[in-house]
Formats: sequence, structure tokens, C-alpha cells
Amino acid sequence: MRNAIRFSWGENQGFIRPQEFEGLRPSMQAVHTMIREGTGAGADFLGWRDLPAAYDQEEYRRIKEAAKRIQKDCRVFVVVGIGGSYLGARAVIEYLRSPLYNMLPKDTPEIYYAGNCLSASALEEVFRLIGDRDVCINVISKSGTTTEPAVAFRVLRAYMEKRYGEEGAAGRIYVTTDKCRGTLKQFSDKKGYETFVVPDDVGGRFSVLTAVGLLPIAVAGIDIDALMSGAEAGMKLYAAPDYTANDAYRYAMTRRILNAKGKQIEVLVSYEPYGQMLNEWWKQLFGESEGKDHKGIFPASVVFSTDLHSMGQFIQDGSRNLFETVVSVEQADVSFPVADDPQNIDGLNFLSGVEMDRVKATAAKGTLLAHVDGGVPNLSVCVDRRDEYALGQLLYFFEMAVAASGYLSGVNPFDQPGVEAYKKNMFALLGKPGYEDLRAALQTRLDS
Ligand code: PA5
Repeated sequence: MRNAIRFSWGENQGFIRPQEFEGLRPSMQAVHTMIREGTGAGADFLGWRDLPAAYDQEEYRRIKEAAKRIQKDCRVFVVVGIGGSYLGARAVIEYLRSPLYNMLPKDTPEIYYAGNCLSASALEEVFRLIGDRDVCINVISKSGTTTEPAVAFRVLRAYMEKRYGEEGAAGRIYVTTDKCRGTLKQFSDKKGYETFVVPDDVGGRFSVLTAVGLLPIAVAGIDIDALMSGAEAGMKLYAAPDYTANDAYRYAMTRRILNAKGKQIEVLVSYEPYGQMLNEWWKQLFGESEGKDHKGIFPASVVFSTDLHSMGQFIQDGSRNLFETVVSVEQADVSFPVADDPQNIDGLNFLSGVEMDRVKATAAKGTLLAHVDGGVPNLSVCVDRRDEYALGQLLYFFEMAVAASGYLSGVNPFDQPGVEAYKKNMFALLGKPGYEDLRAALQTRLDS
């Protein structure tokens, strides 16, 4: 089994002493039991833990078939969903293909995202991007009631039915939702849409390895078998009970030790623009899992070296309440040497023939030393290659780490009461039936 990830906690940086891990050993052992035996808060949502080996094979086969059909039927594929219902798919597609996926030559459909905000401009742009090209839609919502995707889907559905007729549209609309409870499932059955399941025991932000993520990822031409086998490797590696043999636990413990020393912000660093949406996925995973009961490490992110020219000053020299976690890829996937200039007018010939990737790796080393000197602990998550397998393992690594870190800090990592609060208020203020009392109370507050 290939272990594609190496984690280091800043062994020589002087911010943490090895004994501090030992001090956390009993708590980590207790958390291990909670995760393995389902004895902690939110244990009904531990489905992600065994998913890479225990997924529904029949559904998985249907995902692959549907992806092939979508690739054949359309040039534009619109993914409608918000939060955990789109970030994972987008993160994987942009990481493995490109953030410029839609603009680069390819034989798979362009992919656009709708229903992840309430912007009329953004929605109108999707129609302009579709133009007169054939389109398929995947609406993804576990609850089926989230306003943003529901509104976008209503508009897109009307467009599809007008353009293709009700039956034609039904053959182009794919729905990923709750198995039987939600209104979206009932509606889809009535309309004849093909549906995929968000398992009951998998929360939105942990759902990238279900149909939620896998269908759009497969449409983009990504090898989901390799993604799942990387995740399966992660599942085996990060099941080890002892933290010294479990990098996900070690990462979780490092975060807790640093948090106890006043580090309240974690900055996830990518040195590649293709890591930007993965940063966004990670921010949701950690922010929504840990930020509750007035606790949590605020998850932020940057893409270096770009953001060294905007955020570098603050990280080097601003408030000393942050640490960085640098996700790097060891092996370059592209060879791009710096060109030679016989006249050396710009004085850059010391870099002639040097691979861009080496320049980047050297920048990363220099940045690490400078930031450590500036009082910023640097953790490292080093991925061996940019491929499906390594990314599958990385996704699982972060999922296991946040479960452990959340339990270590004493919160339920699997609920999101804060998100529900805003949804309720919005329903009430928009006049949804059943929310009359709340609406009156909120209106009084707004008017005062
Ligand atoms: O992680 C979560 O639970 C949330 O981000 C949800 O994914 C998000 O609110 C969308 O919910 P739903 O899939 O029910 O539309």
C-alpha cells in the first residue's frame, strides 16, 4: 500500500516539545475509542469513516454510467449545490484538472456551479455560459430545502423544460439527495429524474466521496476508482490507535497543543493555484466541524507565492496568534525550465535552465524559515504526487484529523447548529409557511 502523505509538526522549530504529545496521549486514546466505537457526540454521522470500503457498489456503478451519459449528452454541465454539496467536487476537479478546466482543451463537458449564492448576476451568467450548447444538470442537496440551490434549480428546471420539453429535461437532470425523506426525492420520482443518495450517516462537508462529489468528478474525466483507493489507504493508515503511528491524530494533536498556546488561526497554505478550492473545502470542513460552543481555530487560507505579496507581511509580522499548515506536492508534474538569455539583461541567468518547480520549492523553504523566525509555527503535509490516489488519501486524512481534533476540543464535530440558525431566520423573513412566530419576532428586532 502506497502512503502518499508525510506529515510533520515542526519538529525542530521550538514551538512544541515532544513531551507535550505524551501529555495528550490519554485524551487521544479516549477520542480514538469515540471514533472507532461510535461513543462520541454525533456518532450517527460517522458514515464517512468506513465509506472508502463500505460504499454502495450498485450506486457506484450507476454514477460511472451516468457520468458517461452526461459526457455524451452535453457540452455544459451545471452543478447546483452549496457548502458541502459542491465544494468537494469543485476542489477535486480544480486540483486534479485545473482551476482553468473550462478554458483548457478537453473532451469532457465544461462545468459551472450554480446555487452556491443568492446572486442574480451569477445565475444569469450561467445561462450566458450555456448559450445554445447542450446542457445537463446535477442538483445536489441533502435536505432538499436549502434556499440557494432550491431557487437556482427552480429557474434552471424551467429553462430545461422550455428547451427540451418535460421528458427531454428529465433525461438531463440528475438529483443527489436524501434516500427517501426529502421533498427533492419525492419531486424527482414524480418527474422521473435519476437520483443518487447522500447517505443518512454522512454530513454535507464529509460527503465528497459519495455521489455528491463522485458524479461531477467522474464527469470531469477523473479516475474515481483511484480516488477511492487512495481514500481506502487513508482509511487503513489513519485507523491506527497510537498517535505515533497515525499522522491524522498527530496533526489533530498538534493543532490542539498550538491552540492551547494562543494560536487561534490556522492558515492552510498551497503553493499551487490548483489548490485554491481545496483550501475552500478544507475551510468548510474545519470551520463547520470545530467552530462551536465558542471554541475553534479559525481556518484561513492562502495561495503562495501569490499571497506572499498581499498577506505575507501580516503572517511574518502581524498579530502572533496564527500558525500555518503547508500542503505541498513533492514531485513536479510538469517540466518548465527558466529560459536562458545570453545577454542576461535582467541578471537572471543564475536561474537559466533551473526548473520552475525548484524555484518554487526554494521559495517555500525560505518562507518557512522566515515565518518560523517571525514566530509562526509551520506544519507540513507533503503529498508525493498530484494524482487521484494521493488526493483521495489527503481528503480522508483531513476528515479523520478534524474528527479527532473536534473531539479533543470537546465539541461535536458532526453538527452545524450555526448554519441551521441562519437558514431558519432566512426562511422566516422570506415568509415560509410555518415560521410565522419567528418572523414576527425577527421583524420586531429589525424594526427597533
Ligand atoms: O456541511 C454541511 O452540512 C452544509 O454545508 C451543507 O452541505 C449545506 O448547508 C447544504 O445543505 P444541503 O445539502 O442540505 O442543501
